[in-house]
Amino acid sequence: MITEINGRKIKILIESSEISKKVSELGKTITQDYKDKDLIIIGVLKGSFIFLADLIRHIEIKAEIDFVRVSSYKEGTEAGEIELITDIEASLKGRDVLLVEDLVDTGGTLDFIRENILSKNPASYKTCALVKKKKRREIDITVDYVGFEIDDKFIVGYGTDLAEKGRNLPDIFTIEKEDG
Ligand code: IMP
Ligand code: MG
Repeated sequence: MITEINGRKIKILIESSEISKKVSELGKTITQDYKDKDLIIIGVLKGSFIFLADLIRHIEIKAEIDFVRVSSYKEGTEAGEIELITDIEASLKGRDVLLVEDLVDTGGTLDFIRENILSKNPASYKTCALVKKKKRREIDITVDYVGFEIDDKFIVGYGTDLAEKGRNLPDIFTIEKEDG
């Protein structure tokens, strides 16, 4: 059993059963909203890969899947410059784009990707994040579909990482303070 990552203790925040329930609800809502639309889902790598894999199996309409890869956290828990690593391959022109993120913290990543996507002239653009942190943001960001709103804590598991570790944890954990 994993009890620490890089010497930092982890504590359960959201259990996998709770995540599954929420993901299935999100899938149902998205299915309703995108009936008769030309849905293309863009997953933000790497963090969204587990959430995306579960979510799309609850979306009961034909959808295309593509990915964008950006990097924002260079290491550890400090936010850094956002960089486009791999751009979207599919053409988005005239299509209904749903961006899927693991979590929204400052909103910087979503803001960066939004510019990129809108420059490709989609018919519509919406966003979905499993987790959104409750905090005062410098960037005013709208997330159309949110799984969980949490306090401003660093989390790991279910795709999210601490310095690239812990993505394989089935539940979502918080990281205890370094001295805690
Ligand atoms: P933002 O640009 O500050 O909104 O951060 C978004 C990205 O940073 C997410 O896609 C995550 O990959 C990463 N991130 C932000 N907060 C956390 C966290 O608490 N744990 C792990 N990754 C995080
Ligand atoms: Mg990340």
